[in-house]
Amino acid sequence: MIYIDIQNRKIPALGYGTWQLKDKACVDGVLKALDIGYRHIDTAQIYENESEVGLAIEQSGVKRDDIFLTTKVWMSNLEHKLFRPSVEESLRKLKAGYVDLLLIHWPVTQVSFAEQMKSLREVHEAGLARMIGVSNFTVAQMREVREELGAPVVNNQVEYHPFLSQKPVLDYVRAHDMFLTAYSPLARGKVRNDQTLQDIAEKHGKTPGQVALRWLVQQERVAAIPKAASEENLRGNFDIFSFTLDADEMQRISLLTKNAKRLINPDWAPRWDMAAA
Ligand SMILES: NC(=O)c1ccc[n+]([C@@H]2O[C@H](COP(=O)([O-])OP(=O)(O)OC[C@H]3O[C@@H](n4cnc5c(N)ncnc54)[C@H](OP(=O)(O)O)[C@@H]3O)[C@@H](O)[C@H]2O)c1
Repeated sequence: MIYIDIQNRKIPALGYGTWQLKDKACVDGVLKALDIGYRHIDTAQIYENESEVGLAIEQSGVKRDDIFLTTKVWMSNLEHKLFRPSVEESLRKLKAGYVDLLLIHWPVTQVSFAEQMKSLREVHEAGLARMIGVSNFTVAQMREVREELGAPVVNNQVEYHPFLSQKPVLDYVRAHDMFLTAYSPLARGKVRNDQTLQDIAEKHGKTPGQVALRWLVQQERVAAIPKAASEENLRGNFDIFSFTLDADEMQRISLLTKNAKRLINPDWAPRWDMAAA
């Protein structure tokens, strides 16, 4: 495992994403992931699977303290009066006294950032969240919550894979002792069809998915949270620590990000940062 050092915590750079895993498939997936060795699990209020994630953690026998657990507050719970109760409900479902990282899922502005950050700080100070962060925030929005509002956010979870650059966000997190979590790190499965990734994978006796994940976690302050329902993918995605990509391979994959294929772009998304060409 590669770890990211932030605030005296070692965060496993490879985690397990659980979006669209429901009911028994979610319990089975998280149980298998923990058995394989994953110690970083990503869920969210909107995924409607926090209870299943909590059940699997409980059944796994892995100590809660050994797992880096993230959840996210959905946009309907951002008002101050709803925020903390929603986090307490998440913790009840997760059967956990705290999450390691609590994120604001999307930067919607129906509730002011000042109010959102007040709530986020309160649950942080109350010990319900060991670290706090955001998701899908632009650089300007990160600047606003950290530098104007003083919220100690340490993470931005954004879409990042070989077909989408996140250079502006990466530059900002690296300059401010934060880290970036790459969601949809396999471009939702599309990495398997790319010729460059196939060529590099063949050289290492790996799959394009393994190469994409290795490219991510080999970057400074980047974590990746692939989702996999099948045991084959779950195992394969964890098997990325026995090979290294050289500088030329890293560069060839980075060039693919010029394709700028963003896969997650709902109506409520912000005006995304554009990487310089
Ligand atoms: N913050 C946000 O707004 C946000 C948005 C999107 C996602 N996320 C988080 O990020 C996690 C991952 O993103 P994602 O689920 O969108 O997409 P992803 O992890 O990029 O891709 C998942 C898909 O790829 C397949 N797959 C798994 N391993 C593979 C491999 N080695 N090679 C080829 N295909 C493979 C999976 O198939 P099987 O399942 O059949 O194995 C699944 O269909 C989510 O689960 C969620 O936790 C957060």
